[in-house]
Amino acid sequence: MSKHTIPHIARQNGHPVLMVEDKPFILLAGEVHNSDSSSPAYMEHIWEIAEHLGMNTLLLPVTWEMIEPEEDAFDFSVPQALIDQARERAMKIVFLWFGSWKNAECMYAPAWVKQDLRRFPRAQIVKGKNKAGRQVSPTIPVKMPYTTLSYLGTETMQADAKAFAAFMGFLKDYDEERQTVVAVQVENETGLLGAAREVSDEADALFASEVPVDFAAYMRAHSDSMTDEIRAAVLGGRECGNWREVFGETADELFSAYHVAKYVNTVAAAGKAVYPLPMTANCWLDKGSEPGSYPTGGPVSKVHEAWDFCAPSIDVYCPDIYVPQFKEVCDEYTRRGGALFIPECATHSYAAPRLLYTVGHFHAMCYSPFGFDDIGHPFSAQQGFLFGMDVSDPALKTPQSFEEYAAIGHILREMMPMLAQAYGTNCLQAVSAETDPVTPHPSGNPFMAIPPMMDFGAFRVSAHFQGPMNPRGDGALLCLKISDAECWLVGNACSISLSSGDPDRTNLDLLSVEEGGFENGAWRSGRRLNGDETAQMNMDKPSVWHMKFFAYK
Ligand code: DGJ
Repeated sequence: MSKHTIPHIARQNGHPVLMVEDKPFILLAGEVHNSDSSSPAYMEHIWEIAEHLGMNTLLLPVTWEMIEPEEDAFDFSVPQALIDQARERAMKIVFLWFGSWKNAECMYAPAWVKQDLRRFPRAQIVKGKNKAGRQVSPTIPVKMPYTTLSYLGTETMQADAKAFAAFMGFLKDYDEERQTVVAVQVENETGLLGAAREVSDEADALFASEVPVDFAAYMRAHSDSMTDEIRAAVLGGRECGNWREVFGETADELFSAYHVAKYVNTVAAAGKAVYPLPMTANCWLDKGSEPGSYPTGGPVSKVHEAWDFCAPSIDVYCPDIYVPQFKEVCDEYTRRGGALFIPECATHSYAAPRLLYTVGHFHAMCYSPFGFDDIGHPFSAQQGFLFGMDVSDPALKTPQSFEEYAAIGHILREMMPMLAQAYGTNCLQAVSAETDPVTPHPSGNPFMAIPPMMDFGAFRVSAHFQGPMNPRGDGALLCLKISDAECWLVGNACSISLSSGDPDRTNLDLLSVEEGGFENGAWRSGRRLNGDETAQMNMDKPSVWHMKFFAYK
């Protein structure tokens, strides 16, 4: 038995944090391409890249077809080898359970599930059809063949839950002592494409019958936090009745959410009963589009209240963010006080600034670029399209510099215990060029525009991301306050100014500014910056500075 409680989520200063070995932990992570973790030999160089990038955790698929190739015959040799590899490098793992769902399809179900359509029925988006064309987008007049398992398939759900429980049993036996695996994602991008709900005879009959009264009552009682569209439908509908009567125009999506979330919960609960690691559900974003054009019923933010009711075994809903509106999505997924856990995001030039920003501003539990071994490589138009990125924006097409990500990654990995201790307090803050534009001065004078500022009470730190000294416009700055007269700054592509926030001592002067780095958690100072280097405090490369200062009248 380990002397530590198993990894779990706790509240620290009111903020949700992941506890590993009884200490707050930040997943400075990367998710591998879908097929990589099927081969531990292939993974060798991927682990190496992750280490170069300063990551402390990898998100790795473990698939139903791989661990249960024949019914009831389990093989955990691959996940076991992956755990061994992580231990050799003192890294952690979040396993991604690719079971009934992978991107709203069922490609990772074992052959014995795929081939038995009677026992394991397919979803019908066209009545009577096990596979049907789905419109990819309203602007592309092409239909793609689509099939997936039905969310009403009780036997499928039970078989998936049984396999997942067996996997969690393996993790408990092999890893409870060492705690290499710190969380598990249950399924991948659940939901239905091509229609807002299934339309089989069974689905139609259920849709026309009474909404479970406890669900209808729960939704009414939790309308405060809902998006306007769902709240209006919930409060505008009948208190009981069939799905359309109770939920109006949103009935089809809530019907799907109810069944998908109940299904996922059955799988998660079966696993938690064996080994209760934190469990997450990731999400293909709806991007404001029509149900059916994104995996409907999956945990998009507008149906979180439905998921809360149906899937209490899921601890965090996680956005996969490839869209340019990064901060808006993070705000949406944290609006109800939940943790920010980003299992997937793009590898363009905002990847490193967003790492700093999500840790410093959102106190994120996880930040994880998808296919991180692509960092440093240009995108093809095909990749951009497949990843759902907006490739018309040149900034989002520029690849993230490998060296810069690695530099920031290493600094954060070394500082992680200190940063995690500050989660939930305002001692840790960040701003970035992407998320914090300057505020124009009322006079219109661009030289008097107000730069983004972090307010720590006794002192303030402003970041200048645009200007003659910083033409790049993709900078970010994180500040960790140690006391009213001392802080750490981690940043890139910005200049910095400090001012007093003390109304009685409005002047602030520097005492010392050290650049340097951490080695095995210990600070190694480099140059002591002064003169020209502090007259214009410019971070033109990824840097960490230790600063001391004082305020006076
Ligand atoms: C989102 C999925 O969750 C990932 O597994 C992967 O397919 C990416 N899209 C990009 O292809």
